[in-house]
Amino acid sequence: EAERMRVSVIGTGYLGATTAACLAEMGFDVLGVDVDEAKVEMLRRGRVPFFEPGLDELLTENLPTGRLRFTTSFAEVAEFADLHLICVGTPQLDDSGAADLSYVNSAVDRLAPHLHRPTVVVGRSTVPVGTAATLAARMAALAPVGAEAELGWSPEFLRESFGVKDTLQPNRIVIGTDSPRVEKAVRALWQQQIDEGVPFLVTDMQTAELVKVSANAFLATKISFINAMAEVSEAAGADVMKLAEALSHDDRIGGKFLGPGLGFGGGCLPKDIRAFMARADELGVEPALSFLREVDAINQRRRARTIDIARQLIGGNFAGRTVTVLGAAFKPNSDDIRDSPALDVASTIASLGAHVTVYDPQAMDRAREEHPQLNYAPSMMEAAEGADVVLLLTEWTEFREANPEKLGEVVTQRKIVDGRNALDPTYWRSSGWIYRALGRQ
Ligand code: UDX
Repeated sequence: EAERMRVSVIGTGYLGATTAACLAEMGFDVLGVDVDEAKVEMLRRGRVPFFEPGLDELLTENLPTGRLRFTTSFAEVAEFADLHLICVGTPQLDDSGAADLSYVNSAVDRLAPHLHRPTVVVGRSTVPVGTAATLAARMAALAPVGAEAELGWSPEFLRESFGVKDTLQPNRIVIGTDSPRVEKAVRALWQQQIDEGVPFLVTDMQTAELVKVSANAFLATKISFINAMAEVSEAAGADVMKLAEALSHDDRIGGKFLGPGLGFGGGCLPKDIRAFMARADELGVEPALSFLREVDAINQRRRARTIDIARQLIGGNFAGRTVTVLGAAFKPNSDDIRDSPALDVASTIASLGAHVTVYDPQAMDRAREEHPQLNYAPSMMEAAEGADVVLLLTEWTEFREANPEKLGEVVTQRKIVDGRNALDPTYWRSSGWIYRALGRQ
């Protein structure tokens, strides 16, 4: 049997942990490295530091075989691997919207001094176009082997809550490099997928970096487009759900990411469009992306509109009222609350004087930590007790399948704002609820 390729994964956050476990599952020898000792210790024990369907099973299967290991030592990682994957985060730096590159920089700074033999390093993180070239120069300067340590960029496209599937069955592999050695290493990594027909695209580094941010910009634009149509529908007396359905049958448009509602949040789309605008500004092409400012503004207006509808429903004032918020995660099947539209709405309503109680099937601990001023209940029913109005803000299946009769028995008033167009209005109205949604009458 040919020797298995040894791969290191730098960073064991959401992207890194998922990538490491999936590569081990695919049969590679994987060593994950992180400066966060607590995280490394958890992963060694087979515990995932966040909620991601299917990931704990992969850890439990692959840790005992020795194919998957974790360390805090960059020297060990440099000694071990033929291919290094940079999977650290690039959060928003400040109000300018620019990306914080300190984690990618420090990944290179920690690894490079240990690179004594020819090596391939491939970045997977989402970075502003031009970052990879800067990192390549930085690495060559710091590595004892010099230019024999080569760097390429291969963005990932995984969605949270589908991270395992999106890694094992990607819809394309993109590698930005002009080095045959880098291309060969990345091709070897995904050979199974390529054999199964997954497109493999080789580009220059800049294009590869751009593929990721432009994909996310497009997705954000699609969501804001349908939410702009929701605004018009509200004013014109139309129904955006029917509109979206009719649009979706045109396969040039398609039905995915055309779901109107409270809009996008999370650790990627919001910060990526802002970082993209900041970078365009630096490149002197600011007007090319000024439409993304509108995309962001439309998205923010949905939150304000949701609050307005709830306020109207309870007679114009939140002060002293009891409000139930269903959902805290930025989307279902995740415990991620970064830029969560649900928690943004909940905390604004609380700041307007309402008594707000939140329930979420997975994100309660994180929400409690970040928003201690809100109240939390251990179940949907308990959260709804005494409510003057209920807001559904993250479309978990548990909420989609809620029984309006049962819920109606514990609330004070049967009033609901469906922020995700997740419920059947006829069904809820037939149980005596006043039902309001975004983009419909
Ligand atoms: C996104 C991209 O999909 C992924 O390819 C990239 O690698 C990272 O960013 P993620 O942030 O995990 O992934 O979430 P996604 O499923 O894309 O949803 C983003 C947000 O858009 C969520 O808040 C979701 O509620 C919202 N959304 C999505 C809508 O409001 N309407 C839709 O039709 C689809």
